[in-house]
Amino acid sequence: MLQNPHMNQVSETETSPQQRARDLLEQMTLDEKIGQLCQVNGGAHDLHDAVREGRIGSVLNEVHVDEVNELQRLAVEESRLGIPLLIGRDVIHGFKTIFPIPLGQAATWDRDAVRLGARIAATEAASSGVNWTFAPMIDITRDPRWGRIAESLGEDPVLCGELGAAMVQGFQGESLDNVHAIAACAKHFAGYGAVEGGLDYSTANIPEGELRNTYLPSFKAALDAGAVTFMASFSDLNGVPASGNEFLMKQVLREEWGFEGFVVSDWESIKELTVHGFAENDTHAALEAATAGVDMEMASTLYRDHLPELIESGRFNIEQLDAMVFNILKVKFELGLFEHAYTNPHDYPALVNEAHLKAARDTAAKSCVLLKNDNRVLPLDRGQLNSMTVIGPLADDGYEQLGTWIFDGESRHSRTCLQAIYDMVGDSVQVHWAPAMANSRCRDGGGFDEAIEAARQSDVAVMFLGEESILSGEAHCRAEIDLPGDQEKLVHAVAETGTPIVLVVLAGRPLTLGNIIDRVSAVLYAWHPGTMGGPAIADLLFGEESPSGKLPVTFPRMVGQIPIYYSRKNTGRPPSHDSITHIDDIDGKAPQTSLGMSAFHLDAGFTPQFHFGYGLSYTEFSYRDMVLSDHRVALGGSLRLSATVENTGEVAADEVVQLYIRDLVGNVTRPVKELKGFQRIHLAPGESRDVVFELHTDDLAFYDRRMERITEPGQFHAWIGSSSDPELWAEFEVTAE
Ligand code: BGC
Repeated sequence: MLQNPHMNQVSETETSPQQRARDLLEQMTLDEKIGQLCQVNGGAHDLHDAVREGRIGSVLNEVHVDEVNELQRLAVEESRLGIPLLIGRDVIHGFKTIFPIPLGQAATWDRDAVRLGARIAATEAASSGVNWTFAPMIDITRDPRWGRIAESLGEDPVLCGELGAAMVQGFQGESLDNVHAIAACAKHFAGYGAVEGGLDYSTANIPEGELRNTYLPSFKAALDAGAVTFMASFSDLNGVPASGNEFLMKQVLREEWGFEGFVVSDWESIKELTVHGFAENDTHAALEAATAGVDMEMASTLYRDHLPELIESGRFNIEQLDAMVFNILKVKFELGLFEHAYTNPHDYPALVNEAHLKAARDTAAKSCVLLKNDNRVLPLDRGQLNSMTVIGPLADDGYEQLGTWIFDGESRHSRTCLQAIYDMVGDSVQVHWAPAMANSRCRDGGGFDEAIEAARQSDVAVMFLGEESILSGEAHCRAEIDLPGDQEKLVHAVAETGTPIVLVVLAGRPLTLGNIIDRVSAVLYAWHPGTMGGPAIADLLFGEESPSGKLPVTFPRMVGQIPIYYSRKNTGRPPSHDSITHIDDIDGKAPQTSLGMSAFHLDAGFTPQFHFGYGLSYTEFSYRDMVLSDHRVALGGSLRLSATVENTGEVAADEVVQLYIRDLVGNVTRPVKELKGFQRIHLAPGESRDVVFELHTDDLAFYDRRMERITEPGQFHAWIGSSSDPELWAEFEVTAE
């Protein structure tokens, strides 16, 4: 194996990464320092020379291990100081073995599954020489029109923070310098999920209190889990684009939180500061970004082109530059790159191996959410069923089931739903296959007749509808979020046959299902489930597993309800079922009055189609005996809240038990409910368990009017249950002492 000459110069590995970074910094020229701040795309013109000359700190999107090793060789053996490269890649929900999209992973509410998915992704990616992923994406998202909701962990700060932290732990492993670990990147800092109208790259206006209470906690959780890098967002936050936002990067991230890693820009987001109208030219943009605390520039070359003149003119000083370089070098030392810059694929488990596939299958099964199951049409009983029709463009498409951001995933590894159904039923059930549509967007109706006829002759029609991968993800936003193309027509046409319909939705976002929900007997929401989506879904359809996913995001009835999320404020006129009118019920010329009226839409009411945390099972769980260790807790103390959960049905299943609270009165108004804990448990039929949550008064803290983080003494409600509409309720009081 090739040796890194720099390793011999600084051989005291017991010396801290900080010290080693400082020592190295002292030896660097101005050009070499600026070089460390530059990240370029693999295959870029002049890349080898640039690396050899120390003009590059990181390369992204190069995953051919021989080329990565060659780049590292140029960096460590031929550049003057032998500084290895960071090799970045978007490893978002798997490398070769693709796990469900992050929103699907969030629906598992399973920290261990999410951590394992990231661990497997890291080992697979690392075998190609990747040592840094641009994940997890932990933007709070409350707008399903936004295509990047697919990449997110949903609407809730606690769920997103805990699962984001699990991803960080999975990517970075036990120790960052292990060759199986890759650096994580918490992105996109910050507020990107709140872009207006769910329109990607748009503006986010978030009052500071809301920013601190809702949008920043998941980033803090990722930092606490050890994330060594952060990515600045593309978006404009309150008039200051994130990539030039000193408040975010200096005040919050460095000063308040004590972050010691480095910040990378998003793709050309420093250059875009001029397009935002925030910087008058490229020099100014480089100055704003560097001053704000963006250490590394992705893709554009403003740092390379303009930092020298900024330093020479004294507008940016060398101490500031040194701090940026130091942050990057320190992470390189922490990753152990100076000890092992090269990648030997034999040091890694095989790609797409059986263990990886099994994990992907388990996670996909846990991610599916059963939204409706009338007359217990599911699970299908192979013993009773004579025939079934499989319908829909997404039943047998190994590529589309992978979802967005799968640079390295390959559809040849995918097991589709249709294949899995054939494998599951063998000869015992007659399976008709009628795709009906070439893709989810098509409007030609050409294949309808065959599908309708097959459904008419079958005991059940299982329809695989939804969205192709390309309809969600970056820059792929939708203003309507119903089933695209002629899919709704198809559902209505098949429903006319009278054959019960099981609808399996594969999609990158919550879809509005109001137009078809009454025409189908069951809905299994499978997101984009990844490589093993087929077998996972077949296991659920035929009852080998019970569905156990819960919604990580609220499903609106119609687009006009957006934003709609469970942790809303109460308002002065909270709606109730008695205080609303439906537009169709307004008589003739009704006099206008606001008396007795409340916060609702005339045409949509005030409830969502499906609420946060919701998801059915093949069994029933009963909740009883909510017990609090005390009904008073002094500031600084803790409370134990428990409930007994029993599986009263007939099959073994997982349940996600959820704890919510409400702070009744606040210095600023508080949400009507806030998730504070969750546990996934497994119960056999007849088995019961006391589920215990520990709640510290610090968990109740929020930022008040003065932007101080406080827990206020006062009355609280607490709930334990199976969703954000929970079964059990209790009260407690926080006292000053
Ligand atoms: C995205 C980032 C991504 C980067 C590199 C950008 O367009 O916003 O999330 O990590 O590209 O591919």
